[in-house]
Amino acid sequence: SQYNIAVIVGSLRKDSFNRKLATALARLAPADFSFTQLRLDDLPLYNQDDDGQQAASVLRFKGEVKAAQGVLFVTAEYNRSIPGVLKNAIDNASRPYGQSAWAGKPAGVIGASVGAIGTSMAQQHLRNVLAYLDMPTLGQPEAFIHAKEGLFDADGGIGAGSREFLQGWMNQYVAWIKKHA
Ligand code: FNR
Repeated sequence: SQYNIAVIVGSLRKDSFNRKLATALARLAPADFSFTQLRLDDLPLYNQDDDGQQAASVLRFKGEVKAAQGVLFVTAEYNRSIPGVLKNAIDNASRPYGQSAWAGKPAGVIGASVGAIGTSMAQQHLRNVLAYLDMPTLGQPEAFIHAKEGLFDADGGIGAGSREFLQGWMNQYVAWIKKHA
């Protein structure tokens, strides 16, 4: 594809709603886009002492981000902020100083939770981090997805009730990446 998107899912849970959402969203994109969910669970806890000899998993993760034309963050909300596993991945790929993998990569932020206002605070906290990392991030539409019965259909696609809304979101995301890639 012309546009390869690095997908960062902010949950390690096997049956994560956010992982399912990331998979279903990818199906709403045009044929010139491909989406790869990056592995976060083998990244070490970030330690600045390791900046001079980053782990192989960190170098791999940074390479995957650098090779992408854009990033899609699909995150859970933990205790009204972003999960530590997501922040850890972001921190690992932001260093050493001056060698961040994130700088300039266009991004989108979305998330699902079991709460009705779910992920709104996590998404705002994430936007703060992405602004510092110099990632142009799609502002509108916002999407705070309530993970309830019917969100996904039987084949793992977006269910009928949310499909039009999320197709609209994806169309804007695609346009944003094309503008900034
Ligand atoms: C949660 N959950 C949650 N939900 C929410 O809307 N706001 C929150 O602040 C929190 N806080 C929180 C903390 C911790 C430690 C856990 C484990 C869970 C519930 C959360 O939305 C739910 O577990 C989702 O299923 C998490 O997303 P995944 O793993 O399904 O992608």
